[in-house]
Amino acid sequence: MLSFEDESVPENRTMGLNPVAASANPAQHTESAKRAYTMAAESNNRIRVEDKSVINCKADVNQLVPFKYKWAWEKYLAGCANHWMPQEINMSADIALWKNPNGLTADERLLIKRNLGFFSTADSLAANNIVLGTYRHITNPECRQYLLRQAFEEAIHTHAYQYIIESLGLDDGEIFNMYHEVSCIRDKDEFLLPYIDTLTNPEFQTGTVEADQQLLKSLIVFACIMEGMFFYVGFVQILALGRQNKMTGAAEQYQYIMRDESMHLNFGVDLINQIKLENPHLWTPAFREEIRGLLQKGVELEYRYAEDTMPRGILGLNAGMFKEYLRFIANRRCQQIGVDILYQGATNPFPWMAEMIDLKKEKNFFETRVTEYQTGGALSWD
Ligand SMILES: [Fe+2]
Ligand SMILES: [Fe+2]
Repeated sequence: MLSFEDESVPENRTMGLNPVAASANPAQHTESAKRAYTMAAESNNRIRVEDKSVINCKADVNQLVPFKYKWAWEKYLAGCANHWMPQEINMSADIALWKNPNGLTADERLLIKRNLGFFSTADSLAANNIVLGTYRHITNPECRQYLLRQAFEEAIHTHAYQYIIESLGLDDGEIFNMYHEVSCIRDKDEFLLPYIDTLTNPEFQTGTVEADQQLLKSLIVFACIMEGMFFYVGFVQILALGRQNKMTGAAEQYQYIMRDESMHLNFGVDLINQIKLENPHLWTPAFREEIRGLLQKGVELEYRYAEDTMPRGILGLNAGMFKEYLRFIANRRCQQIGVDILYQGATNPFPWMAEMIDLKKEKNFFETRVTEYQTGGALSWD
């Protein structure tokens, strides 16, 4: 029987808890984790829910229960229920279309290759950021449980892009090196790298206001800008092809990926808001302005990517439409983490995408395969 002591939802709630005392995080490294274990064993004190916190927690991170954060555990369960694998999707129509000299225009081929050029390395960056960075600094076991699931999903996404590249017989050297060689892709990745480096630096420890703000900033960049903005032009592009009955296998892969990413974003937003709630001293006006500046920079970089991948406008899409779309998305990210919006009056030019992403239909969103997983996933020992 599950029990959750804290039923509150972190998003959009007011801040009221006392700040967690600033101290070095004892659970980040093996030695300190051992110390925490030993201290807990020697003191003979059982973990209390009120001892748990998202960062800088002194309670033993090896004990999953008692649960504190229902949102984290529920997302872990939902992520598992949505399990899928790339090779289950039939790519034969895509292969035939790609091999047909008249199947796609030159602009459509450029779009597909640059799209895969960005995504084929982006999810490796995401996985490394989680495993080598974020995981160490999040000191709550139910949040870590979700991060473990998320890390595996990032591996599945990298697998999916590799599978598409291989199926189409693309030059993998060309595609996988685009993040070095194509400036609009490289610029996005170079924007992200310092924030990933912060968390993966073995010397980095939370426990001071400055370090905790750095962590929070990196989490916001990762969830709201990388997963919440830098993926969206690419998702629209491939799903727009699918809506025209082109590259339908790739479009199906992207739908599964997008559903996972929607959950990653929602988890990231919950995590950020929970840290804010527990550490209100971090959320200063100057810090909020810095975050708005970063979101604005994210819009500029993603817009440049849209222009570069669609220089002439295809599929009923053009870069100008993406400018409005990215402004709309940026406003949503601002609202989700509680900063003032950036672009008054921005609207969504792709309402069909809103239906697919913004309604957060995390379960039963796709009509066939995933539902089969969910119903077929339960073990029976009869
Ligand atoms: Fe991913
Ligand atoms: Fe992700």
